[in-house]
Amino acid sequence: MKKKITAVVVGFGDRSGIYVREGYKHRPDDFEVVAVVDPDDVRLKLAKDTYSLEDSMLYHSIDEVLSQGKIADCVINGTMDQYHIETAVPFLKQGYDMLLEKPVCNNLDDLMMIRNTAEEYGCKLIICHVLRYSPFYALIKKIINSGEIGTIMSMETSERVGVAHSSVSYIRGKWNKESYCGSGMLLAKCCHDIDLACWLNNATKPVKVISVGGRDFVNPTYAPEGAGERCMVDCPHNSTCKYSAENLYIEHETLPWLPFQCTGRLHTDLTEEEKIESLKTTNPHGVCAYKTDMDIVDHQTVTIQFANGSTLNHTMTQGSIRAGRNIFIQGTDGEIEGWAETGEFVVRTWDYDSKSYIEKKYDMKAEGNNERGHFGGDQGIVDEFLTLIKGGTPSVSCTHITDSIYGHLCVFAAEKSRLSGGIPYVISYDEGDITIKRIDE
Ligand SMILES: NC(=O)c1ccc[n+]([C@@H]2O[C@H](COP(=O)([O-])OP(=O)(O)OC[C@H]3O[C@@H](n4cnc5c(N)ncnc54)[C@H](O)[C@@H]3O)[C@@H](O)[C@H]2O)c1
Repeated sequence: MKKKITAVVVGFGDRSGIYVREGYKHRPDDFEVVAVVDPDDVRLKLAKDTYSLEDSMLYHSIDEVLSQGKIADCVINGTMDQYHIETAVPFLKQGYDMLLEKPVCNNLDDLMMIRNTAEEYGCKLIICHVLRYSPFYALIKKIINSGEIGTIMSMETSERVGVAHSSVSYIRGKWNKESYCGSGMLLAKCCHDIDLACWLNNATKPVKVISVGGRDFVNPTYAPEGAGERCMVDCPHNSTCKYSAENLYIEHETLPWLPFQCTGRLHTDLTEEEKIESLKTTNPHGVCAYKTDMDIVDHQTVTIQFANGSTLNHTMTQGSIRAGRNIFIQGTDGEIEGWAETGEFVVRTWDYDSKSYIEKKYDMKAEGNNERGHFGGDQGIVDEFLTLIKGGTPSVSCTHITDSIYGHLCVFAAEKSRLSGGIPYVISYDEGDITIKRIDE
């Protein structure tokens, strides 16, 4: 019988749960969980019940696993942002290959340290920039690599974070405070977009970054007149406001696993009455969206210049009416324009005879990709990870740490720029010694 790849799951939350499910579903002959670590008994029980695990395979702390030496081939690390470094590095030092959620960390020193540790201990460290593995972005990358649009001159991307997602994750949710989770909005959300741009344009490297943005609109000044403190308690706009907690979490049950995580129970175990009571009392998701304790931005724009002069402009907005990501890439010989949410993009090249353009259309949703997590990226990354561990060849999408640092570098530089009022920051690469400095330093 073929030997399966064995995995320790560190943090059995939403994301790890998805990777484990994808592993068992699509690579059942290759993949097996041998241990789950999570301080939360509810999550351990969920893992046990879902995958019929023995009690001896469940742990409350990583030290209990680490003390046994290397007990599996790899680690799936799906802890929250602020725990990545402390839960990842000790396993790398024991030689585990690792699938690590993004963002890797929130500062340059930690990024270099984790990259160097993976290198020193010979680990395959794959970062969950899952969108690279979606057929939509992977095909765009292959077209760029084919030379069809020439050399990239400029890229325009936007991430419009929709009302429901903004509300549950960033305005009221567990990523709403950098001071708590360690990530600002750009790092938590748009590290995907900036990573995509650096990867699509990886014939060169990012060297200069400028950014502006702030919490300028989702704040008390813009609350509807007479807004209360809690939607379902004292707000006259509860039945009309786009952020109404009742509308989002009770009537439409959008992203239902997130707003009730704070109760310490699974949302499927809560009655509607219990959910309402929680939103009316202690649940942060019941607070007026304009009056939360969010300390991250509600809009931000980033400009990046690459070493060959090419540029990226990326804009993020929270509370967008039509959610989604779009992309426009101008090359020296052609252009690509697409909208990830519909799975459609076009490639335009110049036609000498008609003095106009020829347009080729691609529809990735026709193959069902857009119904799958991250447009197929969640399955794609698990496939890649298992293939790499087995000694297979990396795909065009491969998010190995060595190739995943560039987006993070840009995000770190962008945040420095934003906080300095838009002063450019420069990224220098001196034989592996990477620095980020103000342009006038
Ligand atoms: N790739 C993506 O597109 C994507 C999407 C959403 C979230 N994320 C990232 O995935 C990560 C996890 O997010 P989530 O929503 O699944 O979080 P979650 O809160 O659902 O899961 C985290 C789990 O880690 C456990 N945990 C906490 N401390 C631990 C420790 N010391 N050791 C072991 N387990 C510990 C928690 O109890 C929890 O069960 C975050 O970094 C997040 O930013 C990535």
